[in-house]
Amino acid sequence: MFVSLALVALAASRAAACKQTPTLVDDVLLPEADSAELLYLHRKLVETESITGNEGDVGQWLSSYLRDKNFTVETQQVSENRYNLLAYGSKRSTTVLVSSHIDTVPPYWPYYHNKTTGVIGGRGSVDAKGSAAAQIIAVQALREHLRDDLSLLFVVGEETGGDGMRAFSSWSERPQPNYEVVIFGEPTEGKLVCGHKGILSFTLHIKGKAAHSGYPWLGVSANDVLTEALAKLLELRANGLPWSEKYGNTTMNFGKIAGGVAGNVVAETASANIAVRLAAGTPSDVRGLVISALSDVKARVEKQGGGLGIEWAGEGYPPVNIDCDIKSFDTLTVNYGTDVPLLAGEHRRYLYGPGSILVAHSDHEALKKKELEQAVLDYRRLILEASRMDHQYQQEL
Ligand SMILES: *[C@@H]1O[C@H](CO)[C@@H](O)[C@H](O)[C@H]1NC(C)=O
Ligand SMILES: *[C@@H]1O[C@H](CO)[C@@H](O)[C@H](O)[C@H]1NC(C)=O
Ligand SMILES: *[C@@H]1O[C@H](CO)[C@@H](O)[C@H](O)[C@H]1NC(C)=O
Ligand SMILES: [Zn+2]
Repeated sequence: MFVSLALVALAASRAAACKQTPTLVDDVLLPEADSAELLYLHRKLVETESITGNEGDVGQWLSSYLRDKNFTVETQQVSENRYNLLAYGSKRSTTVLVSSHIDTVPPYWPYYHNKTTGVIGGRGSVDAKGSAAAQIIAVQALREHLRDDLSLLFVVGEETGGDGMRAFSSWSERPQPNYEVVIFGEPTEGKLVCGHKGILSFTLHIKGKAAHSGYPWLGVSANDVLTEALAKLLELRANGLPWSEKYGNTTMNFGKIAGGVAGNVVAETASANIAVRLAAGTPSDVRGLVISALSDVKARVEKQGGGLGIEWAGEGYPPVNIDCDIKSFDTLTVNYGTDVPLLAGEHRRYLYGPGSILVAHSDHEALKKKELEQAVLDYRRLILEASRMDHQYQQEL
C-alpha cells in the first residue's frame, strides 16, 4: 500500500481531533444524480433473472454497464455461460477489492418500487443485488480520489456452495495473491458483521430391503432405519454439539427427508439432507460426532443386510471471524454462510450490506430506497476507513 506511516499517524490524530464533528464523508448526502443512477442500476440487476446456474444474462448486462463507466472488465468463465466479473480502472492489482455475488435463489420474483412507501422489492433486491448496486456507485465516486486503487469482483454461484469464488481463488490469471482489504456485500442490515457460523452439510443414505407390508420381517425398512438414525441425531443436537459465546449453539436442520414408495411396501431406500451450522469447533469434529452417534444404527442395519452411508457435501468450514474494527459502525454476528472464507489469500475482510437477511430468501424480499442510499455512503466510509486512505482523500478534495 502506498500510504506512508507518517500519513497514517496524521490520519489518526485528525480522527481524534474530529471526534465530535462528523467526518466529511458522513456529511455528504447522496447526490440526486447518484441516487437516480443507483435505482436504475439496482432495477436492471433485479429485473434480470439470475437464479444460480443462469447468471449469463446478468453478467453480460453488468459487464457492459461497467465498461460504459470506463472500467476495464475481465470475465472468468466458471462453467458454461457463467462468468465472474473483475472490474478495475488504471491498475489491475489494487489495495482494495469490493465484492458481491450476482446469483440469486429461486424462484424469480419481479421487481417493484412503491414510491409511496419507498419500498423496493423483487428477487435479489436484497440478496445481494442491493449490495452490488450500492458498491458500484460507491466505488465509482471514489475512484479518482483513491487513484483507481480499488477493484470490483462479482461472482456467480454463491447461493449453492460458492463455485464462483472458489474459481476466482484458484484462477491462474488472478491479479495478485493478496489484497490488503476485501469488502464483501451481503444483507447485514447496514451493520458490520464480526463473524458468521461455519457449515457442514451431508446426506444420509439408507439401503433396506423391500417386502410386502404384511410380512415386514422379510424386509428391512429403510424408513425405520432412517427414523432411528434421525432420533440419534436429535439427541446429539440437544446435548452434544459445540457452542460458543460469540455464535451461540450449533444447529442442525433436517432439511429434506425422503423414503419408500407406498404405504403398503416396506421401504427399500430412504435419505435425509442435513445442514449443520457450526458455532464452534471444526467440520472434522462434527463429522466425528455424527459418525459416532450413528455407529450403532449402522452396525445393526448392516447385520440385517442393509446399509447406512453418509455423503459429506464438501469439506465445510468452521465459524468465520471477520474484521469489524471500524468504530463508527454497529456490529452483529450472523448465522448464514458467505463467500468470505472462500477467497484465498491474506487480507483484512469486512462484510456489510443493505437490507435484512430475514427477508432475503423469502417471497417478500424487499428493502427501503433509503437503505440502499445509505449503503452507498456506508460503503464509501468503509472503504476509506478500512484502507486508511481517508486522510489522503480529504487532502485531495
Ligand atoms: C469515460 O471516459 C470517456 C473518455 O475519457 C469520457 O468522455 C466519459 O465521460 C467517461 N465516462 C464516465 C462514466 O466516466
Ligand atoms: C404502495 O404501498 C401502499 C401501502 O402498502 C399500498 O396501499 C399501495 O397500493 C402501494 N402502491 C402500489 C403502486 O403498489
Ligand atoms: C442453546 O442450547 C441450550 C441447551 O439445549 C439451550 O438451553 C439454550 O437456550 C440454547 N441457546 C440459544 C441461544 O438458543
Ligand atoms: Zn447472498
